[in-house]
Amino acid sequence: MAHRTAFSYYGGKGMLASRYPAPQHKTIIEPFAGGAAYSLKYYKHDVFLNDLNPKTYQIWQFILSSNALKYIKKIPIKPTKGINVNDIADEIDAPVGLRYILQSACNVGVMGTEKNCKSITKIGAVKWKHNTINKLLYWWPKLRHWQITNKDYSKINNEIATWFIDPPYNNDAGNLYKANNINYNNLANWCLNRNGFIIVCENYGAKWLPFIKTVEAPGVQSKYRKTKRCEGVFYKINDKQVIDDMIRPQFPESEGQRERKKIIDDEVYWEKENEKYRRSSTIKQ
Ligand SMILES: C[S@@+](CC[C@H](N)C(=O)[O-])C[C@H]1O[C@@H](n2cnc3c(N)ncnc32)[C@H](O)[C@@H]1O
Repeated sequence: MAHRTAFSYYGGKGMLASRYPAPQHKTIIEPFAGGAAYSLKYYKHDVFLNDLNPKTYQIWQFILSSNALKYIKKIPIKPTKGINVNDIADEIDAPVGLRYILQSACNVGVMGTEKNCKSITKIGAVKWKHNTINKLLYWWPKLRHWQITNKDYSKINNEIATWFIDPPYNNDAGNLYKANNINYNNLANWCLNRNGFIIVCENYGAKWLPFIKTVEAPGVQSKYRKTKRCEGVFYKINDKQVIDDMIRPQFPESEGQRERKKIIDDEVYWEKENEKYRRSSTIKQ
């Protein structure tokens, strides 16, 4: 069975990765990696991940390490609900990155935030094998060529690449990330100056770039998450043909004429706003 994610991560794009255009370069750079769902979809590319959160960095360091398999094989298949996940980690002498993966599996959707994940919840116990062993066994052999760094996004070299830029949202949801101290004006400037093809994700309605509406993502509806979230996206592509070829097919006629018309209106809006933005004093190209 194919897996969309390698571990559970707060705000991960596992459900949405296929809605974004395919990479236009052999190299993909994710400066705000988290669970890196977009890169996983195109894992054969040369992928460079970066995340400021040391836990996230250590998780990827473990997955990308050559001896990970030895530890993956030691993970117990059926843990009991309620037990402390650190006891399991101690028992198998887990490297720190694997310890965090086990923590992410015991309390789904929390890794990346300040919250601690210690005891295995009911749903964590049910999905345990799927969320730990199966995913790691699936991804570990496929990602041997990936790289990960642990620095502020602004310190990454400006290579020609497809840049998948998915920072914490500039709202309360984004504030839940452990690493979340971002100046969005500076980030907008930085995004516009990347070399290559740029995809920037945000909650639709954010104003730091002229985001267009994409999908109303249902998210995982549960007793904890009742609201829908509406994703916005900003593309830096100046070629109209590219917009026609890549963006419109993401929203086929079958999804409804009205929605399609709105998206096309948004594209026109985006083109005007983008132009204004480039000329504005805060953005110096
Ligand atoms: C929205 S999440 C990325 C989710 C990811 N696209 C996925 O599919 O799982 C944003 C990530 O940015 C990281 N981050 C926050 N501030 C950062 C900074 N200044 N530099 C680099 N990474 C940062 C957070 O730790 C978090 O993992």
